[in-house]
Amino acid sequence: MKLLFATHNKHKLEEAREILGKLDIEIEHFEIEYDEPRGEDTSEIAEKSARDLFSRIKKPLFLDDSGIFVNALNGFPGPYSAWVFRKMGYQGILKLLDGNENRKAYFKSSIAYASEKGTFVFDGIMKGSIPKEARGDNGFGYDPIVVPEGMDRTFAEMSDEEKNSISHRKIALHKFADFLSS
Ligand code: IMP
Repeated sequence: MKLLFATHNKHKLEEAREILGKLDIEIEHFEIEYDEPRGEDTSEIAEKSARDLFSRIKKPLFLDDSGIFVNALNGFPGPYSAWVFRKMGYQGILKLLDGNENRKAYFKSSIAYASEKGTFVFDGIMKGSIPKEARGDNGFGYDPIVVPEGMDRTFAEMSDEEKNSISHRKIALHKFADFLSS
C-alpha cells in the first residue's frame, strides 16, 4: 500500500517512513503549500487541514499536526509549538520553567487521513517530563528537552529506532495503520 503524506518536515517524513515501513505501508512525499487553520488542538487543526487539502487535490492523503504541551504552562505551546520553536527554541521553554518544580509535559501527534470516505483523525500522546537542561543532539524540535515517562534519557539521547518505538507519532500512526487494515 502506498500513501501520500503531506508535510514540509523531513523529520516527520523519516519517522513516518520508518514506523509505517515496518507495517509494509509505503509513503509518497507530497509537498504542497496549505494554510494551517488556527485551533485549540492538534486534532482539530489536522482534521481541517486534511479535509481542505483533499477537497483541493481529490486524492487520499494524510498529514501530521503535533506539538508539546507543558502542564505548568497550561498546555503552552501546544498547537503553536512550531511557531514558538522558531521564535525562541527549546531554550525558551526551559527559561519559562526556570524555578518551577512541575516539569510534566506531553507530546501529541494527530494524524489526519482524508479520502472520499471522509476525514479520520488518530491521536498519539506520549507523557514525559522536562529536565533542567537540554540533553542530546539526535532528532528534532523539542527532542532534547523531553524525557519519556519511566525513562531517564531525552528523545534526543536515543537512537531513531528507540524513539520511533515509543513516540506519540508511533502511537498515532499505528492507530492509523489499524484503521487502514480494518
Ligand atoms: P506542526 O505540526 O508543523 O505544527 O509542528 C509541530 C512542531 O512541534 C514541530 O515543528 C516541532 O517543533 C514540535 N514537535 C512535533 N513533534 C515532535 C517530536 O517528535 N519531537 C520534537 N519536537 C516535535
